[in-house]
Amino acid sequence: PAAAQAAPHGQPPVAVAHRGASSYAPENTLASIDAAARLGVEWVENDVQRTKDGELVILHDSSLARTTNVEQVFPDRSPWNVSDFTLREIEKLDAGSWFGRKFKGERVPTLEDYMDEVEHNDQSLLMELKSPELYPGIERQTLKELRSEGWLTSSHVKHRLIIQSFNADTLKTVHTLRPDIRTGFLGNPSVADLPKFAKYCDQINPVHTAVTRDYVTAVHGLKGPHRRPLDLYTWTVDDPATALKVAGLGVDGIITNKPDVVRDVVEGS
Ligand code: G3P
Ligand code: CA
Repeated sequence: PAAAQAAPHGQPPVAVAHRGASSYAPENTLASIDAAARLGVEWVENDVQRTKDGELVILHDSSLARTTNVEQVFPDRSPWNVSDFTLREIEKLDAGSWFGRKFKGERVPTLEDYMDEVEHNDQSLLMELKSPELYPGIERQTLKELRSEGWLTSSHVKHRLIIQSFNADTLKTVHTLRPDIRTGFLGNPSVADLPKFAKYCDQINPVHTAVTRDYVTAVHGLKGPHRRPLDLYTWTVDDPATALKVAGLGVDGIITNKPDVVRDVVEGS
């Protein structure tokens, strides 16, 4: 297949299910990772945030408004920030109906429930610490929970877990606390700045419009903290032509709401 041959390392990029298979099931719910599992997709991406009472939950926006019925259940609590609600309150919310009637009853998962399901599905996780500046100490707390869930064993760390963030300080903290964990920086630092990131990042993960062949070459030319060439995962690509294009530029991963479509295109089936 054309895309696979164009990749310098000879492997087609891995398709990562963005917020789960979120074109087919409500994002960041257990249904979304189960949908990915049914499609045979190993890697899923999520977003971690924290409740008022300090529990870690899986949600993309800082507010519950877009992806739950919080406005109906708690009409007086605008702007419905997750950090203003306890877990007990969040557990009352429906995180599926906005997407489709058949998903009524889906919940905002706790990190613990989410990890159990990823494990049950035998999947791997690209975990994003989202807006960590809102949640002091979330790095250490997340690592503690991952450890108690059995996700910091050497086989999980080597093969099944990557932590990413738009926040470079958060990645430095994760790397300092657990240097064995792979990390990815969400963004596209200048080529001149890449060596600084290579001290604590294993991946550079830019938006797809920023990916050029020269940039991919520059990323691949550096070794990360684990003495392996840096990888580049790009987001969010659902369109087959764009997936084929970035695969041809040599990216290592494509983060997508349609992991089946992207996988089939890049694997040439
Ligand atoms: O995984 C990359 C992507 O998730 C970053 O953007 O806004 O979807 O978290 P966002
Ligand atoms: Ca994300």
